[in-house]
Amino acid sequence: MKVAVIGTGYVGLVTAAILADFGNQVVGVDIDEEKIKTLQKGQTPFYEPGLSDLLLRNQGARRLIFTIDYSQAIPPAEVIFICVGTPSNERGEADLNYVFSAAKSLAPFLTEKAVVVIKSTVPPGTHLEVKKIIDKLTEVKYYLASVPEFLREGSALEDTLRPDRVIIGTDNKYAQKVLLDLHRPINGKRILTDVVSAQLIKYAANSFLASKISYANEIARLCDVYGADVMQVMEGVGEDKRIGKAFLHPGIGYGGSCFPKDVKAILAFAKKKEVELAVIAGAHRTNTTQVNYFIEKIKKHLGNLQNKKIGVLGLAFKGNTDDIRQSRALVLIKKLLEEKAEVYAYDPLAATSVKKFFPELRINYASNWQQVAKQAEALIIATEWNEFKELDLEELKRISQVKYIFDGRNILNPAKVKLAGFHYVGLGR
Ligand SMILES: NC(=O)c1ccc[n+]([C@@H]2O[C@H](COP(=O)([O-])OP(=O)(O)OC[C@H]3O[C@@H](n4cnc5c(N)ncnc54)[C@H](O)[C@@H]3O)[C@@H](O)[C@H]2O)c1
Repeated sequence: MKVAVIGTGYVGLVTAAILADFGNQVVGVDIDEEKIKTLQKGQTPFYEPGLSDLLLRNQGARRLIFTIDYSQAIPPAEVIFICVGTPSNERGEADLNYVFSAAKSLAPFLTEKAVVVIKSTVPPGTHLEVKKIIDKLTEVKYYLASVPEFLREGSALEDTLRPDRVIIGTDNKYAQKVLLDLHRPINGKRILTDVVSAQLIKYAANSFLASKISYANEIARLCDVYGADVMQVMEGVGEDKRIGKAFLHPGIGYGGSCFPKDVKAILAFAKKKEVELAVIAGAHRTNTTQVNYFIEKIKKHLGNLQNKKIGVLGLAFKGNTDDIRQSRALVLIKKLLEEKAEVYAYDPLAATSVKKFFPELRINYASNWQQVAKQAEALIIATEWNEFKELDLEELKRISQVKYIFDGRNILNPAKVKLAGFHYVGLGR
């Protein structure tokens, strides 16, 4: 099939590469000229395991090309995916300007029976606005659908190839058949639904996952005051099949490009219709106070943080990615700096982005954890990278003056940390 993918970010690029790998003819379009030049040179603009090889293979086979030119990408396309960003605006709503602008740009080049698929996460009813925009600019018969994306950064290829489910939201049988055909090589249950339900599924799923994390964090606070071990409590809770173990791991809260903005967006569009979402509002509130809660724990042990040398391990919003959008590690660092601590930090991949996007943060960057440890009197684990899970405690003791380890991701074994001669402080344990 001939496919166009609009927006070559995490979702668009992964979608384009995988569809090309199935033998489709795919054109990726973006307004970011630098990004397109990078891609045309065979380079990947961000880190995602396995993506670089997949892009090169399909570019080499001439099944995948990149352009900034809609007039090249859209006319041949039987299916067009809109994968542009939908960040939060100042009112917490999803900013749909990129989606509307993509609709405006593609409309004049649409050909008969093209299927326009919204893959970006958009509030229910957005397709009606998109339809109005397109209808003003074309006479051809086209179809609209919503196929929300559930990939996770860090395992995006695997998630796209083997998702739990593929949601196909359209009211049109022809569009449904085309999309079922296109997704045939992909695993997972098919859920065929109307467009609005497809759009809501995405927000309902993300806000549920975010609520699970906040729930675990609230129970961790309770464990702190009662002296229970939240990891055991969550194991006992999660073994119940009705609940499930995933996303019950306490930490300094959820970040990233999706959960924070999607939770705010669902609250905003529910409020517009005067529907109260008390559970989700609570999950959001807990998340916004979780870093403060952790900082207060740190201060109970270290006292005033002014001029204290604090090492922070991790900057990315989670392990296995260089994405720093809404990273809790950065929220934490900002607070440490407000408290006038001296911050030393290391991340396997994300430091370049932090330097670029947050030049005002007075962070002393290190190129490995050992360099951080040598400067610091206390270490904070802020991102759950595998290399921090395996931290060599003997080496840490040998090379540093570190006395406290504050485990903001509950990834270390407290008994081992104590045995190695450190004070261990996690969340709810
Ligand atoms: N990143 C994730 O893990 C993830 C997972 C599931 C769903 N989503 C959703 O998918 C959407 C895209 O997210 P992302 O993380 O890939 O975004 P991103 O910010 O990484 O990429 C968006 C891309 O769209 C481009 N763009 C913006 N306007 C454009 C236009 N008019 N024409 C062409 N290109 C344009 C930007 O230049 C950018 O390259 C969002 O709605 C997001 O919520 C993201």
